Parts: sequence; structure tokens; C-alpha cells
Amino acid sequence: MTPPLSLPGVYAPQDDTDLLVTALGREPLAPRADVLDVGTGTGVVALAAARRGARVTAVDISWRAVLNTRVNAVLTRLPLSVVRGNLLDPVADRSFDLILSNPPYVPAPGSRTDGRPARGVARAWDAGRDGRLVLDRLCRDSPALLRPGGVLLLVQSTLSDEERTLAQLRAAGLRTDVVDHRRIAFGPVLRSRGDWLRGRGLFHADDADDEKEELVIIRAERPRGNR
Ligand SMILES: C[S@@+](CC[C@H](N)C(=O)[O-])C[C@H]1O[C@@H](n2cnc3c(N)ncnc32)[C@H](O)[C@@H]1O
Repeated sequence: MTPPLSLPGVYAPQDDTDLLVTALGREPLAPRADVLDVGTGTGVVALAAARRGARVTAVDISWRAVLNTRVNAVLTRLPLSVVRGNLLDPVADRSFDLILSNPPYVPAPGSRTDGRPARGVARAWDAGRDGRLVLDRLCRDSPALLRPGGVLLLVQSTLSDEERTLAQLRAAGLRTDVVDHRRIAFGPVLRSRGDWLRGRGLFHADDADDEKEELVIIRAERPRGNR
């Protein structure tokens, strides 16, 4: 899962990336299926799909991530269409067999309240005070881009309310499941926010040894004949 190149300032693949790539590996993928990777970072998830013969479009809001992914596509000799843009905006007129995303989902104190994403490197993980700034938009806009039988695979932390994701996607007519999960120790960002998370009721353990979060893979499928 290690990409050939991981530029400074671009999200280096972590446990959430690995969970998503593993879930992608379990997903049947027709030859030349149309796949979208939203928030591609180094492009590692998009490249895993391209390696299986899919036609992959990768989107990121960061120019540095776009450059990183383009270089990795060249280095691996895999065809990728890499686009700079805000979430689904650049592909709003298209449809896909599979949409993949490891979006920013970390609750962040002092977040901007104007609905715009965080700035700088934190834009890869900070997602508003409830961690849902990007998740809510993906849940709202991605169902319309799925073909009948199409699948959305999304990774997030339970700190950012996976039940809300499941409810939103079900309300949009998709069949939802949690298909994988992994408990991991808090990294430096979450460790520095432990008290704030406790204060907001998002996290309860008092012991530093119990400072762990649960990552989940949400799979949501558009039923055939439902559009
Ligand atoms: C957690 S990283 C995941 C990177 C990569 N997919 C992986 O799994 O290693 C989230 C990525 O989303 C991108 N991102 C954040 N906000 C975005 C937005 N509004 N539109 C598109 N990409 C965004 C960030 O630049 C970052 O590359």
C-alpha cells in the first residue's frame, strides 16, 4: 500500500487508508468500471483501483496532492485522471460504479464556522467541530452519482458519528452496512484534543491507555432498478 512518492504536506497513507484499500480489494470490479476517489492524497487508493483495470478519476482540493497523485500515476504506469476540485463538484455531471473516499473526519476545536474547509495540511483531517463538514456533503451528494448497483465505500471514525452517515445514506435510498472496523490508538492530533473531545461528550475514557478510536468502513449500495 506504500505509494512510490509521498510529498511533504500530503496525507501519508495510514490505518484509514489501509482499511479502505482492503475493503476495495473485497469489492467485485468489472473491467473498465468507472471509479471515483474523492480526496485522493497520494493517490494510493485510486491506484489500487486502476491496478485492477478500472477507469479511475481522482479528485483533491490540494494542488500538492494532485501533483503527488499525477507523479505516482506516471511512476506506476497506471492510467488515472486526476482533477483538482472541491469534493464532487468536478464530476457532478458524471456517474460511477464505485465511489471511494477517505475524507477529513476529525472533530476540530476552533473550526471555521463558515462551512469552508480547514486550511493547510490540517485540511486532510480537520472537519469542523463535529467532524462532519465533509461527511455530510458526501452523504448528500454522492448517492446521485452512483449507477444502479453502484457502491460507495467510505472510511470514518466513530468519533464523527457513523450512525448519522448510515442514516443519511439510507434516507437517500442506499443499502448500508459497516463492513470492517479497526480500533487504533489516538495519534498526535487526537491526543492533543483528548480533553476537548471529553468536554464535548465525543469521547469518554479517562485513562491515556484507553485513548483509542474506532475506524469503520461504510458500504452503501444503490439498489438496481432504483433510478
Ligand atoms: C484523510 S486524507 C486521505 C488521502 C488518501 N485518500 C488516503 O487514504 O491516504 C483526505 C484528503 O482529502 C482532501 N480534501 C480535503 N477536503 C477536500 C475537499 N473539499 N475536496 C476534495 N478533497 C479534499 C485532502 O487534501 C486530503 O488529501
